Amino acid sequence: MLFSGKNIIVTGATGDLGVAIVQRLISQGANVLAVAGHQSEISRLATFSGPGTLETSVADVSDAEQVLGYATRAFALWGQIDGFVNNAGIQTPVRPIVAFPEEDFDRVMAVNVRGVFLGMKYVLPRMREGGSVVNMSSALGLVGGAGICAYVPSKRAIIGLTKTAALEQGPRGVRVNACCPDPIAGRMTFKLAEEVFAGSKKTFAETVPLGRHRTPEDVAGLVSYLLSDDSSYATGTAHSVDGGFTTA
Ligand SMILES: NC(=O)c1ccc[n+]([C@@H]2O[C@H](COP(=O)([O-])OP(=O)(O)OC[C@H]3O[C@@H](n4cnc5c(N)ncnc54)[C@H](O)[C@@H]3O)[C@@H](O)[C@H]2O)c1
Repeated sequence: MLFSGKNIIVTGATGDLGVAIVQRLISQGANVLAVAGHQSEISRLATFSGPGTLETSVADVSDAEQVLGYATRAFALWGQIDGFVNNAGIQTPVRPIVAFPEEDFDRVMAVNVRGVFLGMKYVLPRMREGGSVVNMSSALGLVGGAGICAYVPSKRAIIGLTKTAALEQGPRGVRVNACCPDPIAGRMTFKLAEEVFAGSKKTFAETVPLGRHRTPEDVAGLVSYLLSDDSSYATGTAHSVDGGFTTA
């Protein structure tokens, strides 16, 4: 049991990736506080069972008071936080910069950048020495993407936040890494991948060197590694899980 007795917060826990991550952690013995953006999504976690335990919470990650709320709840539940998966994020319809709505830009920055910043601001002081944070960036934080002018810089900013936090937290032995998945067949970015590749002769999967769509479990595996002691000397990194998407 990789995470037996470990206490881990996961935001965006009711999304395609979040569900797979929560499932993986609980099956490895973790106690998980799963934070969703909306109460109506909590049922997506209903079928989970031990050996770890599951608590749920609802919070808007762009709202400081609500972020403080889930951080203090986790600390009250467990008395110590070992891991934090800062995973909540959003994407908007694909548009060129010249036609991109300002309110969409601001909303993506509020959730993806401010949300990750606030998460670390309020969870890190409650995390034990030697704990591990995984911030969910994207392959699109490593390369450009036409029509994705809010999401791309938001995911790149997460890598900057990750490196900054790694420097600040290193002396406490707290590791902070970013996870960079390519777009998969999920409700958020499958559409994105198809929109970006609309008009191209190749499908998105055909552009990936490994030649297939990634699964949520592929990401859960990397997140599990980054949370665990198996990655005990890794901090400040941006780890790709993209089938080689960003390699060419
Ligand atoms: N799906 C992909 O292909 C892919 C690729 C690279 C990176 N990512 C990143 O992985 C993370 C999860 O993506 P996903 O595919 O599971 O998305 P999803 O749309 O399936 O789920 C999003 C999750 O974030 C939560 N959320 C949204 N807005 C929120 C807010 N304001 N406050 C709190 N929670 C909020 C939702 O409740 C949900 O749990 C995101 O950060 C995304 O950018 C996804």
